[in-house]
Order: sequence, then structure tokens, then C-alpha cells
Amino acid sequence: MIQPLQAELSAGPFPLPDFPALHRAHPRLVPFARQLGGTSLREVPGPPGGARILAKCEGENPVGSVKDRVAYALICSALERHGDRDLSELRLLEYSGGNLARALAHLGALLGIHMKFVVPSVTPPSLLDTLTGYGFEYALVDKELGFLGVIEETLALAAAQPEWTLLYQHRNEVNPAFHAATTGAELLDQLDGVRPAAWVASIGSGGTLTGVRSRLLEVAPGLRTVGVTPAELPYGSPLPPNGLPKYTGATGLGNGLHQPFVRRHGDAIEHRTVARDEALDGMVELHALSGLRAGSSGAANWLAARAVAAELPSDAVVLTVFPDAGSPEDWDLARSRRA
Ligand SMILES: Cc1ncc(COP(=O)(O)O)c(C=O)c1O
Repeated sequence: MIQPLQAELSAGPFPLPDFPALHRAHPRLVPFARQLGGTSLREVPGPPGGARILAKCEGENPVGSVKDRVAYALICSALERHGDRDLSELRLLEYSGGNLARALAHLGALLGIHMKFVVPSVTPPSLLDTLTGYGFEYALVDKELGFLGVIEETLALAAAQPEWTLLYQHRNEVNPAFHAATTGAELLDQLDGVRPAAWVASIGSGGTLTGVRSRLLEVAPGLRTVGVTPAELPYGSPLPPNGLPKYTGATGLGNGLHQPFVRRHGDAIEHRTVARDEALDGMVELHALSGLRAGSSGAANWLAARAVAAELPSDAVVLTVFPDAGSPEDWDLARSRRA
């Protein structure tokens, strides 16, 4: 039975797949796994007199985004459940705003798994070409229905076609658990004993925000956790989904719904919003100031981190993440605003 998006999550613990056993059974995973993670943590410009800001640069992952981690973890858990049966019998279904589809398609092609994607109608043609190039199917959902419409369409497909296994990033516990085990663990190593005062990340599924938070709390029990979503549809907004352009990779769901992984943390998570144009201008400003390339969600995270850092003393550290280095489409838009 597929759980509705807003159903309560079940109680843990949620063990990760047995990765060494999966690598033995599917050796093609090994080179990908070796390149995954280990991304750098860079100091980025902060507010004068405020806290320092450190950003984890997830564009360094093999297919170019933070979603490479989640794609690998979701596929490994599906492979584990599939057991010894032939891979040709495995059919995976998932929805994505872009980066997860790109990463899943890469891994699916590597392993020879059938895949189907549900994506918004505004998905860049380059990604759609990648999906068809690998021989994968996709369904487009009208952008006016928002990301909630994309998820609902996928749930309807999964119910109607049970031979397709739904990966379900918004409820699959492997998503935050793998972030805790890798992104969070790497950050603890990189911090080398420094206790962060705040952790700021955009919310798509909320896997990055909540998975990393759970790990950072081990060293920083007073950690402020700040979720960032587009001003055009903030986290928990009672408004219906809309087709307004938003910064990439994150969104509120609309209709008063909350991402389950984020809702589980209740009031412990603060929320901030960034409008798309602010995020696009932030990409250009960050690049001019630091030479670093972050996509629009990374720029939104940086702007929110800067606002949080301005409220903190200069010896504090604010952590954030640059989920990718920005699509060519976002860079064209960002530069055209300066022309
Ligand atoms: C560019 C970008 N930023 C942020 C996120 C949010 O990640 P999460 O699903 O872990 O909340 C995503 C997820 O696809 C993304 O692609």
C-alpha cells in the first residue's frame, strides 16, 4: 500500500541498506559510490561583524548535485528489496524537479534498470533529452499544478500500475538517513570540533535539511535549523500550488501541506523565504564575491545564511549547502537580469 503524502511517518529505527553486499552483487555501483560525496566545505562571504558562513559544495558529486546521494541510496534500497531476482524485472518510478531525475537516470542506465519519471512541464529540454536518450519514459505535469501536482500524478500512476516500484523521496526514510550518514558525517569531520550555531538549507523533500540536522545535533544541541523555500510558495502555505517561477529545487507544497520529514521536527525548524529574482541575483553576487558557482537554491541558501549570520556573533559558524552549481538555464536567466 502506498502511503498518502501527508500520512504520519512510522517510528524508526531505519537501517540503511547493506552497501558492501549490494556492491558485491552489482559491481557497477562501485565506481559511482567511490566518487560520491566527500564534497568540499568552503567559507563564503558573510555579513560584516556577523558569523562566518561555510557552504558544502554538492555540485562536486558525480552527476553534479546533492541528489546524487539520494539517487544512490534510493536505488540501493530498491535493489535490496528486489533481492536475487533479475534486474530486468525491476521497474522504478519517481517524480523529480530535475536533479534527482538526472542522477537516477544515470544510475538506472549504468545498471540497466527500467525507469519512469514524472516531471513538471517546465523541465529543461536538455534533461528530457537525457531521459529519452537512455530509453526512459516520462510524463509531464502542467506547471500550474505545482510540485504537489507532480507528486499526486506519480501516486496515481503507482496505484494504477503496481508493477512499477515507487521510490518516493518525500517519505522514503533512506533519504534523510543517508544524508545523516554521509553529508552530516562529512560535515562533522570537516568542522573538526567546531560547533555550528546554525544550519540553513532549502527544502525540496526536506531530506538534506533534516538528515544533516539530526547528525549535527550530536555536537551542537543548541543548533538553529533554518529551512528555506521560495517566497512564491513557502513551506506550509495554505494557498493552492501555483505556476509562478521559483528558484530551482525547493518549494512549499501548497494547500497547507507540509513535507513529512520537516513536519516531524515541528517548531524546532525555523523558516525563511527567498524570491526567485533575489536568488538569481544572489548567484551572480556570490560568484563575483567568491568565484564560487552555486545554483539558485544554493544562492537562496547563502542569502538566508547571511541573514541568520547577521544575528549571530563573529565567532559563530553558520553552515549551509550549495545543492548544485546551477543549470545553464538558471545562469542564462541570472546573467540576463544584469544585462
Ligand atoms: C537544486 C536543489 N536544491 C535543493 C534541493 C532540496 O533537496 P531536498 O530534497 O533534500 O530537500 C534539491 C532537490 O532536488 C535540488 O535539486
